[in-house]
Amino acid sequence: MTEFADKVVIVTGAARGIGRSTAALFADAGAVVVGADRDVEALEAVEGLSLRLGGDVGDTHDAHAIIDDTLESYGRLDVLVNNAGVWVLKPTSEITPEEWDDQLSTNLRSFFLLIRRAYPALAEAGGSVVNVASIAALRFTIPHVAYASAKAGVIAMTRDLAAEYAPDVRVNAVAPGPIDTMHLTASMTPEEKADFGRRYPLGRMGEPEDVAHAIFFLASPKAAYITGATLPVTGGTELGVPSLF
Ligand SMILES: NC(=O)c1ccc[n+]([C@@H]2O[C@H](COP(=O)([O-])OP(=O)(O)OC[C@H]3O[C@@H](n4cnc5c(N)ncnc54)[C@H](O)[C@@H]3O)[C@@H](O)[C@H]2O)c1
Repeated sequence: MTEFADKVVIVTGAARGIGRSTAALFADAGAVVVGADRDVEALEAVEGLSLRLGGDVGDTHDAHAIIDDTLESYGRLDVLVNNAGVWVLKPTSEITPEEWDDQLSTNLRSFFLLIRRAYPALAEAGGSVVNVASIAALRFTIPHVAYASAKAGVIAMTRDLAAEYAPDVRVNAVAPGPIDTMHLTASMTPEEKADFGRRYPLGRMGEPEDVAHAIFFLASPKAAYITGATLPVTGGTELGVPSLF
């Protein structure tokens, strides 16, 4: 597949999970893929990346360096996938103000920093942005109000920047549901995971590839007339309670 031949794609949080799967899809499609992650050791082990960049995406200097180093190396940017994220799972009474700031920094501020820095190059290339939001922005799931608030901000940012940057740059988002990368499920046996997945309408947890394919589609020319959208990739989790009959 050469759909992205000669295109340059940045994926943040590329060291594992959804970011790693997304980077692999773009590399398979012929793209030059730049992986960014603060876990430099894990990033080194990811195959198929043309460039590996460390740093904290919520830090202004590091975020700008991710865009600047990419442009210095390849001279263009076609796709920015804002995927790096982290959650604090705690009742609101236990979240410290520092944890709140850190959640907003990694999960929302970073998207603003990266998109704004990347915009001129993306506009020149007629490129696009795909932001990774969450089902947590659409409904209550578990107690993590800082994370949910940041992800709701990602959806609002996606809509507003899609309008502001049209027609130069498309900006879309995915909102994943329960994907099998969570530390919540890491210690489960395959049978326990299967049981856990049965509570969702499509009968299983999602795999990182399920989200990666949605990101890839939104970034591709097949989505050329889509901007400002947030696509749930949830197995139907947000649809509500199971039917009574
Ligand atoms: N797994 C799920 O069920 C789920 C559900 C909804 C949304 N999401 C979102 O999907 C995205 C990817 O999640 P995942 O499940 O693959 O997580 P993951 O923990 O497997 O991977 C996240 C990656 O981001 C990196 N990262 C975290 N903070 C960073 C920072 N400040 N700077 C640079 N890199 C940083 C981590 O080192 C890690 O490699 C996140 O935005 C997450 O909020 C995940």
